[in-house]
Amino acid sequence: MLSLRILGLATLLGLSLTRDLPTDFAWGVATAAYQIEGAAALDGRGACIWDDYCKIPGTINNGDNGDVADDFYHKYQEDVQMMKRMGIKHFRLSFSWSRLLPNGTTDKGINGLGVQFYNNLINELLAAGITPWVTLFHWDTPSALHNKTDTGSWLSKDMVDHFDNYADFCFAVFGDRVKHWITLNEPWTYTWVGYGVGGFAPGRCSSQRCKDIGGGGNTATEPYIVTHNLILAHGKAVQTYRQRYQQAQGGVIGMANNIDFMLPFNTSNEDDVDAVNRQHAFQLGWYVDPIVFGRYPEEMASIVTDGRLPTFTSEESAMVKGSYDFIGFNQYTSTYIMNTDKPGGDWSSDPHTATSVYNATGHKIGPTAESPWLNVYPQGIRGAINWVNDRYNEPIIYIFENGVSVPGETKMSLEEALHDNFRIDFYRGYISAVIDSVVIDDVDVRGYFAWSLMDNFEWADGYSTRFGLTYVDYKNDQKRYIKDSFVWYSQFTSSTSNPS
Ligand code: NOJ
Repeated sequence: MLSLRILGLATLLGLSLTRDLPTDFAWGVATAAYQIEGAAALDGRGACIWDDYCKIPGTINNGDNGDVADDFYHKYQEDVQMMKRMGIKHFRLSFSWSRLLPNGTTDKGINGLGVQFYNNLINELLAAGITPWVTLFHWDTPSALHNKTDTGSWLSKDMVDHFDNYADFCFAVFGDRVKHWITLNEPWTYTWVGYGVGGFAPGRCSSQRCKDIGGGGNTATEPYIVTHNLILAHGKAVQTYRQRYQQAQGGVIGMANNIDFMLPFNTSNEDDVDAVNRQHAFQLGWYVDPIVFGRYPEEMASIVTDGRLPTFTSEESAMVKGSYDFIGFNQYTSTYIMNTDKPGGDWSSDPHTATSVYNATGHKIGPTAESPWLNVYPQGIRGAINWVNDRYNEPIIYIFENGVSVPGETKMSLEEALHDNFRIDFYRGYISAVIDSVVIDDVDVRGYFAWSLMDNFEWADGYSTRFGLTYVDYKNDQKRYIKDSFVWYSQFTSSTSNPS
């Protein structure tokens, strides 16, 4: 394998390396359509569930919404040039489904201006020497589809075909230039927070709060149904890609999952160790076991025995099994976990402190970021990489998101926010751990994407929580300012990439 010795540089940056990293390792930055694009009602874009959810009082901090966001829709050329200047070679973006298909499916109309926007963006990226990595679904279900069924879109199996129709369209139109496809982003978060605890669109759960905002639903059941349909939708889209496009276009396809890394509270207590594994199985394993093994995790099947956990028919199992070219995941936070005899509960617990669903209870590790669910524990990403590597037979792995919101950044002046040493330390620690997983643990990690290129709409937190390498001044025409962390990331990744 071609490789470039980066030991000298790594030492300079305070990283401790002993071996080489592949020169074609993909260092990138990540974003998502609803969080950056804005232009929500422009040029024929149809509404998505986040447009609707933001309109409900009390759902989003400060009553923020994605109407303008970073105005990437108008500023994309400037942003691509900024990435080019910063030496970025890989950019993960998502397509807004309802910008391309305002009513959700091709038979109900294609938005030519939406197609033009993504064509222009992709062409601009390629001209700048930047590889696009496209996520098809980053939580922004078209309202036209969501509102179609009584029960709410992803609760309906119809979505499997709708998603396949949309994916097929994207492969046909953009696949000559897009060679890296990600079907779903963090389906666990979409399912859990959207249908379990009701904190994200579409805001379904059984608590009074959800009823107040018009949500409601059976929290114990809906996440399982939504997950099942998401996995089938993924499987079918991959089947379509493989049957009709992959050979001719020469691309790869997979999913971006997420894993909060768990450590046993007491390493010598076997029950705690089991609880760790159970928790991982109930999160990342819920989605990745089906696509690798064609079934749900044993850990889930043995606990959720009351009929809520669906089963795959043999045709479905055959379709989803093997429907990946890589295992991708996002990683941010870690938790100590302790076994508990508490019986299985519902979906109302905090997923980041472990839940009674897993018969376990937990405590966070390390300093907390601005986002209360995110605590800094760099070795967690290495642990997660190794867990995935061991469970799934040493697959190709990509880290599709990793990043941090700086404590207090919300209230800092622009000048203060630009000197984000906390974020630099975060990246130095996590990237070092990723590199260790390659050069010491010998895991086949092929890429890493920092979240995010720029501050953006952080879902229910609105704009006050900032994850960007670039500061966005929302009060002054969304003007961009490079943070110190971007300079650090740029210098580091430029020096470790193949210069040719
Ligand atoms: C994961 C999600 O994919 C992304 O949209 C979000 O902004 C980051 N986590 C940070 O919370």
